[in-house]
Amino acid sequence: MSIELLSSGYEQTLAIAAKFARVLCRGDIICLAGDLGAGKTAFVKGLAAGLGLREAHVHSPTFTLMNIYEGKIPLYHFDLYRICCEDLWSLGYEEFFYGQGITAVEWSERLENLTPKDFWSIKIVHTGQDTRQLTFAATGDAFQTRFIQWVNGQ
Ligand SMILES: Nc1ncnc2c1ncn2[C@@H]1O[C@H](COP(=O)(O)OP(=O)(O)OP(=O)(O)O)[C@@H](O)[C@H]1O
Ligand SMILES: [Mg+2]
Repeated sequence: MSIELLSSGYEQTLAIAAKFARVLCRGDIICLAGDLGAGKTAFVKGLAAGLGLREAHVHSPTFTLMNIYEGKIPLYHFDLYRICCEDLWSLGYEEFFYGQGITAVEWSERLENLTPKDFWSIKIVHTGQDTRQLTFAATGDAFQTRFIQWVNGQ
């Protein structure tokens, strides 16, 4: 089962993501797919805003490979266009993916065998210069109940 939402501009993508953030819990993983410039990073920024987080500016090699948004429930943002699965291993990715925060992964199709069993899937497709189609699904059993509740709330 999946649900499609349409965004007519950058701000609307932020708002959709901020609203979606309400369904998230500690330990959730969000896999974002979509072409260059689709709006994956925009979506992550909207998630952070919805979770009431701010970007941590920590100067350590680790944080050139990922972004951390700090707050009550931290958000870990990985972009697999910039890093590869080997980088994930050296970062100790499991501590983030399966830890106490929420993880968002851009270009998640590149996770290959590191793809988690349960995740929120969000695919963003260009439908025009400023319009995007966002397709949401819950993969695996763990999020199905929450997904149905969220869909019913749309
Ligand atoms: N409806 C929309 N939703 C999101 N972004 C939009 C929308 N309309 C236009 N844009 C523009 O598209 C771009 C999206 O950029 P963003 O960095 O979020 O994409 P991305 O999917 O993360 O790309 P990349 O694969 O390069 O990381 C921004 O320049 C933004 O202003
Ligand atoms: Mg991006």
